[in-house]
Amino acid sequence: MSEKEIYQRVEEWLSRMTLEQKIGQMIQTERMSITPEEVKVFHIGSVLSGGGSSPGENKPADWVKMNDAFWAASVEEDEKHLPIPILYGVDAIHGHNNVLGATIFPHNIGLGCANDPELVKKIAQSTAREILATGVEWTFAPTLAVARNNQWGRTYESYSEDPEIVKSYAGAFVEGLQGDLKTDSVIACVKHWVGDGGTTYGIDQGDTDISEAELRKIHIPPYIPAIQAGTLTVMASFNSWKGDKLHGHKYLLTDVLKEELGFKGFIISDWDGCDYLNADFHQTVAQGVNAGIDLFMVSEKWKPFGESLNQHVNSGNVKPERIDDAVRRILYVKIKYGLFEKPRPSARYWSNHESFGGSAHREVAREAVRKSLVLLKNENDLLPLKRDARIIVAGKNANDRGHQCGGFTVAWQGVSDSMDEESDEPASKITTAYGADAGVQRGKIIGGTSIWEGIKAMSPKAELNINGNMADRSRHDVGIVVIGETPYAEGMGDIRQGDETIAEMATKIKGLMKVLHPYGHSLVLNELHPEDLEAIKNITNQRIPAVVVLLSGRTLIIEKELEESTAFVAAWLPGSEGQGVADLLFGVYDFKGKLSFSWQKKAGENFRKGDEPYNPLFAFGYGLSYSNNTEN
Ligand code: GLC
Repeated sequence: MSEKEIYQRVEEWLSRMTLEQKIGQMIQTERMSITPEEVKVFHIGSVLSGGGSSPGENKPADWVKMNDAFWAASVEEDEKHLPIPILYGVDAIHGHNNVLGATIFPHNIGLGCANDPELVKKIAQSTAREILATGVEWTFAPTLAVARNNQWGRTYESYSEDPEIVKSYAGAFVEGLQGDLKTDSVIACVKHWVGDGGTTYGIDQGDTDISEAELRKIHIPPYIPAIQAGTLTVMASFNSWKGDKLHGHKYLLTDVLKEELGFKGFIISDWDGCDYLNADFHQTVAQGVNAGIDLFMVSEKWKPFGESLNQHVNSGNVKPERIDDAVRRILYVKIKYGLFEKPRPSARYWSNHESFGGSAHREVAREAVRKSLVLLKNENDLLPLKRDARIIVAGKNANDRGHQCGGFTVAWQGVSDSMDEESDEPASKITTAYGADAGVQRGKIIGGTSIWEGIKAMSPKAELNINGNMADRSRHDVGIVVIGETPYAEGMGDIRQGDETIAEMATKIKGLMKVLHPYGHSLVLNELHPEDLEAIKNITNQRIPAVVVLLSGRTLIIEKELEESTAFVAAWLPGSEGQGVADLLFGVYDFKGKLSFSWQKKAGENFRKGDEPYNPLFAFGYGLSYSNNTEN
């Protein structure tokens, strides 16, 4: 269909719509806050699953069934309702990560080290098929943040501190997801517009206090190839720019994104993103719409939202033209994607397809693991290991697929396979996807391989001993110690020394701030996770050389652990395919990964590529390999 034909159809629909129907199209709410019946009665445009929110037993068939019900309600036609199909959205940010049994790819920080846009495109294509297997048609990905301070809990969602790498992936990922906008395609949503990775102190949802020139040099560039590749949606960011929240920022949303960059799709708010514009909910609705938000992600209060917007239009606070512009954009996306031609979700080609979580996708994920690991140290050529070496495998992350996958996997904050069964950890407290006290859930990743399982498959004599206290020089030649962070997501992954920085931000940011409990108070690994150095020492005290594999969502201060190790590998958050780690440790493949972030030496340092002076522990681009055991 030509653009002209699409716009003709947009106008036909628009001309038949009442104000209520238009407002309904501008609302997205969470699946737990609405029934299919209400989708019809209130003409709702979109439904989402928040992180960790899943129907039934969380199998593809449960999702397809749910989507059938929402879809059927949306397309019923009668004198009060027009048959406009809904869009269902999820955070499929490293694979279709909400769903049990999905292939989980490395988080973006690892992909950045692979520096391979073709690989990223293949990942996006595989992810699209897994999304389609569940009857969903839209993912809130890729994240185009350029993270500049790794105290930020979302650093792992960023490909790189360098806009060039993020730029080179943006178009590839969007093309991989959206393809030709036919059977194999899902809708992309680049996020979070804009400056999310540039907040002072790395505070999530904080303030990006930089000049416009810098915003345009660092944070805006990745959006340009994404728009050129045709991304149909963009998500507004929670952060502020020089104190002004993006959700109310007409200049950045409308003037820059829509007009200057020519973005033709729609802008979606982040999760209740407008609520923080000020304390008066009614006012925030007009502020968001007038700034240029088109579709509103409203977790629960979607009815009050609709009533408020209606009042604003009636009182003249919001012009009918603005409503029409928003609805045009939403209809444009739905028509361009071919949503009106698609049958009910269960009748679509990829629904319940056996490729979901299947070997073809897992092979792509394993390749991604191999390409994303960075070899930081390899004294005495300890690596690659011989398969018949007597290996002891230790460290809390050695046999935990949940920890390998990190946040945004099955649960919002991620899952832990090894969390104490008896403990009363936050898992049981979760009531909604974003419950205030949501934490890491106890649970298992279905499918895939832990790092330990990958090692064992290559070297059957290897022994697992999590804290390493069975290490014995007469029985073991080498130790592999898999250490690092445990899962977290968003602001709950922030590192904050104290509350002063939050107090300081509160004086700068106009509006409200959501403050979550941080992950820790220091980037020093030995302060965050002292058990890791202990596990390493249990091996090295026996004069057994240790290969340390670090799982982390960011570069940490690793002075002590590095010193204790003979070889050291940064594995980031590799996802479900732990065998990819063994592929490298045993030399079946060579290391190719190069740091996409500068690695700081000491607490308080925050070197970035191009800084003067620039004195990190490992420079941007560093990474050893077997074939050429020097920096290249
Ligand atoms: C969030 C995130 C955003 C995500 C959305 C929906 O809080 O900031 O990245 O897409 O909610 O789950």
